[in-house]
Amino acid sequence: MSTAGSSPGSRLGTDPAGVPVQAAPVTVRTLQRMKREGRPITMLTAYDYPTARLLDQAGVDVLLVGDSLGMTVLGYESTVPVTLDDILHHTRPVARAARRALVVADLPFLTYQVSVEDALRSAGRLLAEGGAQAVKLEGGAAVVDTVRRLVEAGIPVMGHLGLTPQSVHALGGYRVQGRTEAAARQLLEDAQRLAEAGAFALVLEMVPRQLARRVTEAVPIPTIGIGAGPDCDGQVLILHDLLGLYAGKSPKFAKQYVDLSAAIRDAVGRFIDEVRTGAFPTDEHSFSMDDDVVEKLD
Ligand code: KIV
Repeated sequence: MSTAGSSPGSRLGTDPAGVPVQAAPVTVRTLQRMKREGRPITMLTAYDYPTARLLDQAGVDVLLVGDSLGMTVLGYESTVPVTLDDILHHTRPVARAARRALVVADLPFLTYQVSVEDALRSAGRLLAEGGAQAVKLEGGAAVVDTVRRLVEAGIPVMGHLGLTPQSVHALGGYRVQGRTEAAARQLLEDAQRLAEAGAFALVLEMVPRQLARRVTEAVPIPTIGIGAGPDCDGQVLILHDLLGLYAGKSPKFAKQYVDLSAAIRDAVGRFIDEVRTGAFPTDEHSFSMDDDVVEKLD
């Protein structure tokens, strides 16, 4: 590999022509090696081609086509109405964009809970038709057998414990999970059972940082936290929270790195003003033809 310089926004560096350098593709084994070597894993949600391409070029390790797309891009109140076709539709462009990052697609509500056969068919479609390299599903003991069967079928599975948004109605809202001794023990046991069933990584959402640390120490697979403190093996954020693009209220654990909503409102406002005042378009943005051709039109 060349002695790549690094450019702002690219953690992989660029070649002398400014083109981002292509590093080796991330696989499930890469993530497990990163845990062993104590190298933090980064994961972000992605739902379309141009953004996925930018995130991939910036060097994020995992692109998650999360069912959070129901709230971030489809305008639903929760992730519950998201369908397998929605996830497939958004996974295809993300998979086309990813050169290095591992692409993980969420199995939506009721595409894996009713039967193992459903789960196999749904997950199979996300890999075969969507181009995902792995799937993510929510839950503990109730999904252990399903995880085992998916893994046996050659489908890498990421688990998701703690706040599981598809169960928001059963949980009574988006609240921190695992705060009592019983709930913490249950979560630890679920994590161990998912790892034994073959899950390659675990998302821990909205759990106390002390519990996330215990889980991270207890399981051989990487934990990726969201609202789970700094001691997980990696961190995930919803891209729209990070970019300041989410129309609703972002949760306490989400860090906003830029205010793209303001930038977009400002740019669009300037376009509207310039069209109304005649400042846009100018010759710079127009095409012309020869005068003699124009005269012939008279
Ligand atoms: O759907 C999603 O974006 C997720 C993340 C919160 C991990 O599951």
